[in-house]
Amino acid sequence: MKNIVVLTGAGISAESGLATFRASNGLWNNYSIYEVATPEAWNNNKQLVLDFYNFRRKELQKVKPNSAHLSLAELQNHFHVEIITQNVDNLHEQAGSKNVLHLHGLLTQAKGEFSHTPIMDIEYQDIKLGDLTPSGEQMRPHVVWFGEDVPLIEDAHEKCQKADILIIIGTSLQVYPAAGLIHAVPPSCQIFLIDPHADEIDVPHHIKLFKEKASDKVPKLIQQLLNSKQ
Ligand code: APR
Repeated sequence: MKNIVVLTGAGISAESGLATFRASNGLWNNYSIYEVATPEAWNNNKQLVLDFYNFRRKELQKVKPNSAHLSLAELQNHFHVEIITQNVDNLHEQAGSKNVLHLHGLLTQAKGEFSHTPIMDIEYQDIKLGDLTPSGEQMRPHVVWFGEDVPLIEDAHEKCQKADILIIIGTSLQVYPAAGLIHAVPPSCQIFLIDPHADEIDVPHHIKLFKEKASDKVPKLIQQLLNSKQ
């Protein structure tokens, strides 16, 4: 059975209503990375960082998976599919996908600010100053900030090394080490990239580009893969 790896970014959740990062109305146009998404930001102004992620967590509570998330969940019923996401939303899980690898963490989880443990499920609750872990550390979002290690990158790399097909959906491929995963697949791996701005993304020429929205193209591509299996 073919091994399929899917690498997703903020674009797959755009049609569900969640902001991407680098579009004209993206998060990084309205917030400074250096004020809300770095360890220095946390040391400078914990409340501002908590407010940023509490806002995003509340936005997540209002939205639902779209047909792209749902068709990937269906694909997992027929192929061995590993989903690697840069997203901290839980829309893949809400759509029914299993074993989703969150490279950059999850909005619905929190951890201690120093030990990065324990990882606690908080659903959509705010994290407030004074919310402490059992060992007495201030709780922070379980999100990988710029400048921090990406603990699951080796796992992601190993999954890509076994891929027969790699489907890249809704990422500008501007953030490493996630973006480097496209080079971790075997030379024989078929690579598809789905993004309305696919032609503006700097990728090797052998990658098949679909300049389309995720909710349009992902279900069609999944159906083609399912048909090819019959
Ligand atoms: N369908 C598919 N792709 C879309 C759609 C859509 N409906 N709408 C937008 N896109 C594409 C954009 O064209 C863009 O290429 O999604 C991509 C989103 O790119 P970014 O905003 O850079 O988001 P992403 O690539 O996920 O960012 C990676 O950067 O800020 C960090 O940790 C953060 O995980 C994030 C990482």
